[in-house]
Amino acid sequence: MTPTRIDLTAPDDWHLHLRDGEALASVIGHTAERFARAIVMPNLKPPVATVAQAEAYRQRILACLPPGARFQPLMTLYLTEQTSPEEIALAKASDSVLAVKYYPTGATTNSQSGVRDLARVHAVLEAMERHELPLLLHGEVTDPDIDIFDRERVFIERHLLPLQARFPALRMVLEHITTADAVEFVTGAPAHVAATITAHHLLLNRNALFEGGIRPHHYCAPILKRQTHRAALLQAATSGDSHFFLGTDSAPHARETKETACGCAGLYTAHAAIELYAEAFEQVGRLDRLEAFASFHGPDFYRLPRNQERITLERTPWVVPPSYRLATSTCVPMRAGESVAWSLVRQGS
Ligand code: NCD
Ligand code: ZN
Repeated sequence: MTPTRIDLTAPDDWHLHLRDGEALASVIGHTAERFARAIVMPNLKPPVATVAQAEAYRQRILACLPPGARFQPLMTLYLTEQTSPEEIALAKASDSVLAVKYYPTGATTNSQSGVRDLARVHAVLEAMERHELPLLLHGEVTDPDIDIFDRERVFIERHLLPLQARFPALRMVLEHITTADAVEFVTGAPAHVAATITAHHLLLNRNALFEGGIRPHHYCAPILKRQTHRAALLQAATSGDSHFFLGTDSAPHARETKETACGCAGLYTAHAAIELYAEAFEQVGRLDRLEAFASFHGPDFYRLPRNQERITLERTPWVVPPSYRLATSTCVPMRAGESVAWSLVRQGS
């Protein structure tokens, strides 16, 4: 029998874009309502590249929280070719920075300051390995000769395997994995190599990009993949394997920057994040494994305590609004105008 309520340890989001300023203030409530903690991505303009910048950004996030929210932002540094091993030591010593994010130049939104060649940051990676500071990887090549659907697989072959051979103790998270190849790599890796999986990659295959016409709101990086890959992700997320944990990659963009001739990459899912994961787990009859994926494997990897609070989801479908406010514009969320099967039970209701 399928349950009508799920009660679970409060989950954490291990990969989230919150933006800054008014946009941050517009979106933070959705995440703070559902998650106790989130790893906040540093791809602002300019990027969050130093511990001082991360601490200032953390204060701006805290200042936007709704009254009474107990949400904790966990910060990351943006790895650039200028990042120094000294900054890594500072990050390790800080209370706020938990990891360093690698973007290949040109791979996605605000990746211009990213790394052109991993060989240029070997000294920093060596310091990270020594300090046990995790490297979060946007694992895609940007070589124009490589098909966009193969970017992740080729990254693993060309860059990740050599990186692992050179820095065998480096703690790594392959972020927002999208392929059976990534599942295979991470499944076979030691426990200090992990992966996050988004709700949208669990729920959508690449047909969603072209359903009845081109769908810019389903365009993200890494791009949606074919059904066989989606099936592999669902299997991995619901397997109980602690290499895999929740990371929404919720990435708000103003409507006009997506509905245009050259639209931005990113899906906004924070408004219904844990509810969408519940749908995905239910599709394969594995709601019983949602809590470990959403609330245990992440903190265990990051060596943080599991949350004490709990949340409840209830099988009450609701219709997602056509858009949410985003600073002075709007943002079209995943499932806009359509229904989500699970809803969050608000405190006191
Ligand atoms: C992200 C964004 O908009 O910041 N976009 C996306 O498609 N996921 C960046 C990223 O994580 O690639
Ligand atoms: Zn992201």
